[in-house]
Parts: sequence; C-alpha cells; structure tokens
Amino acid sequence: MAILGIAGCTNDSTSVSDSNLVNGKKLFVGKCGACHVMARAGTKGVTGPNLDEAFSSARQENWGDDGIRGVVYGQILYPNKNAPMPANLVTGKDATDVAAYVSTVAGKPGEDLGLLATAVAPAGSGKTAVEKNGLLSIAADPNGQLLYVESKATATAGPIKLEMPNESGVPHNILIENTPIETPVIENGVAKASGTLKPGKFVYFCSVPGHREAGMVGKLTVR
Ligand code: HEC
Repeated sequence: MAILGIAGCTNDSTSVSDSNLVNGKKLFVGKCGACHVMARAGTKGVTGPNLDEAFSSARQENWGDDGIRGVVYGQILYPNKNAPMPANLVTGKDATDVAAYVSTVAGKPGEDLGLLATAVAPAGSGKTAVEKNGLLSIAADPNGQLLYVESKATATAGPIKLEMPNESGVPHNILIENTPIETPVIENGVAKASGTLKPGKFVYFCSVPGHREAGMVGKLTVR
C-alpha cells in the first residue's frame, strides 16, 4: 500500500504502512479529538492531555513511531479506570489504525499531506443558517470537530424554535447568549429549544467545557 507522503514509514512487518492512516485520522477526529488537542488532526479538545505535548518528549527520547504506537494502542484498550477516557472507543483494526495515525503525527511539526490532508471534510460550510417560518437550524459538525457547520445565522425577531442536529456522537448543545434559549446536551439526534428573540446581535455557542474555546461559536443577527 502506498504511504501518503508522510513521515514515519518503517520497514518491519507491523509497520504503519499496514494500517489505514486515513481511517485512523477520521476515527481520531470523530472519537478522540473532542478530548485531545493534536495539531495535525486539527483537534482541540481539552478534557484529556494535549497529545502533541504528551509525545514530543517521547520523541526526543527516541521512542520512535512504533514505541508511541504501542502506548496509544494500550491507552485505547486500557485507559485509567478513574479517568474520563472510556475504554474501547475504537476496536479491532480501527484501534490499530488510530494508534498508527497518532504515532505518525503526534508531537511532529508540519501538516498532513496527500490523502491524509483531505481525510476529514473541513468543518463549517461557510454558509449562513437562515431562520425560516420560525425555525433556525444550526448543525454540529458531523465529523466530531468542535465546530458548528454554520458559523453565522440570521433570524427575524419574535418566537423562534432553535434546533441543533448532531450526528457526531460527541456531546454538544447550543445556546444563545443573553437569552434563556438553550438546548440540552445531546450526543446524537436533534437538540431543541425555543424562546423569543429581540432584534440585535447575539453569540451562540456550545457550553460543554472547552468547546466554545475550541471554536464552537457563531454570530446571530436578529432583525
Ligand atoms: C471523554 C474524553 C476522552 C476521549 C473521548 C478520549 N480521551 Fe484519551 N484521555 C482522556 C483523559 C482524561 C486522559 C488522561 C487519563 C489519565 O490521566 O489517566 C487521556 C489520556 C490519553 C492518552 C495518554 C496521554 C499521556 O499523556 O500519556 C492517550 C495516548 C489518549 N488519551 C489517546 C486517546 C485516543 C486515541 C482516543 C480516541 C480513541 C481518546 N484518547 C479519546 C480523555 C479522553
């Protein structure tokens, strides 16, 4: 299998070339990134340790990709029971792929190239969410990135139903600052809230810790 122009290819039989790094990156962003910063994956979660920091010293001590891969794989299977990281978020070959991807990029400068660069669709369509017939729908990024698909929204003043579709499996909600309009936190489905909007400029964001800071925030204009 072709290696995608990224560093970290080794020649032994269990090398990362056997693993599907693209699958590993997608799964990392969807299952791990909400809790871990890792620059190459573009993830910004703060519940767990920053994985670039966690592994840069291991790299300096010459652990190499294979050593790091083993640590990550072990962590996926056997996380500390008292910590908030659930065991077996990914299993089987998926777990191998995630460990291979992390070991290839954590603590390394630069950017993902080739197929890895496009493995995860960029979050945010750049589109504006427009309220229609009293319904305003702003989706959470379906790939698990800490962003809304729409970072801008417009609405007319008056009663409003706010909806946040969330297919990501990552817990999110949406609330409009300085109003009582706030949905519950959900991991899958459509979170809903309603209320009345006055004209003005508002900020909406996700109140799960760390998510607003990571970019899960947008601007609502009410006319
Ligand atoms: C709900 C949040 C959460 C999710 C999701 C999560 N982690 Fe973690 N992770 C943590 C926390 C918290 C720790 C610190 C655990 C401890 O202190 O024992 C951690 C620790 C780690 C470590 C050890 C870092 C170190 O400093 O040694 C690695 C590696 C890791 N996680 C990888 C992953 C991978 C890969 C995934 C996805 C399959 C993942 N995590 C998903 C919260 C999470």
